[in-house]
Amino acid sequence: MDIRGVVLAGGTGSRLRPLTKVTNKHLLPVGQKPMIYYPIEKLLGAGIEEILIVTGVEHMGDVVNLLGSGKDFKCRFTYKVQDEAGGIAQALALAENFARCESVAVILGDNIFEAKLDKYTDKFRKQKNGARILLKEVADPQRFGVAAVEGKKITGIEEKPKNPKSNLAVTGIYFYDSQVFDIIRRLKPSGRGELEITDVNNAYIEKNLMEYDKLEGWWSDAGTFESLGKVNELVLSQPPQ
Ligand code: G1P
Repeated sequence: MDIRGVVLAGGTGSRLRPLTKVTNKHLLPVGQKPMIYYPIEKLLGAGIEEILIVTGVEHMGDVVNLLGSGKDFKCRFTYKVQDEAGGIAQALALAENFARCESVAVILGDNIFEAKLDKYTDKFRKQKNGARILLKEVADPQRFGVAAVEGKKITGIEEKPKNPKSNLAVTGIYFYDSQVFDIIRRLKPSGRGELEITDVNNAYIEKNLMEYDKLEGWWSDAGTFESLGKVNELVLSQPPQ
């Protein structure tokens, strides 16, 4: 099974203003590198060398200036513009042609984590079809998509619940087979007017086609001042890669 990589790096970064007033969140520094380097390096570490970057029109120029063709990373980048911030699933829909009916490994550009991806990629390759997501125990699940789990099965995911059913956050690391694009086409916008990745994941759960792993090592998003500070500390406490 060929797996193509997708890094979703759109959004307005509103929770990080004024840091994001003139630049994209994913270009902000984390440790010694721009944030977007981290998800790219994780995909490369899993042998995924065809990578689509999706970002908004405002900062696409800067993103391309930074990353280029992929020559410096020994991979190939493709770029797609998300015209408006309409949600993670809407951004992922832009990957359909790029995916060429293959599976995709999707990472949100502000997810920074310690583990290597290859172990999880190998497990996904062994699945005949469906999706695989990575869960992480967190202290503040209300900030995330939260999974309810019974044994080896996820029974449902709630997006930012006030009363979370578990402490298992859905990380922004997702593996999908090619039916994901049909699923997105059938989605309706959520209360906040966005196509939600949680609705995509729940569609796979309903079809009994969702598997999961618990992500080893540390993980954090970097979308708030607090979490951005935290990932900086975590990354700087690691030996340079
Ligand atoms: C998004 C997803 C959420 C997931 C999180 C991981 O939230 O909607 O389900 O847990 O990413 O980083 P956002 O950070 O865009 O609010």
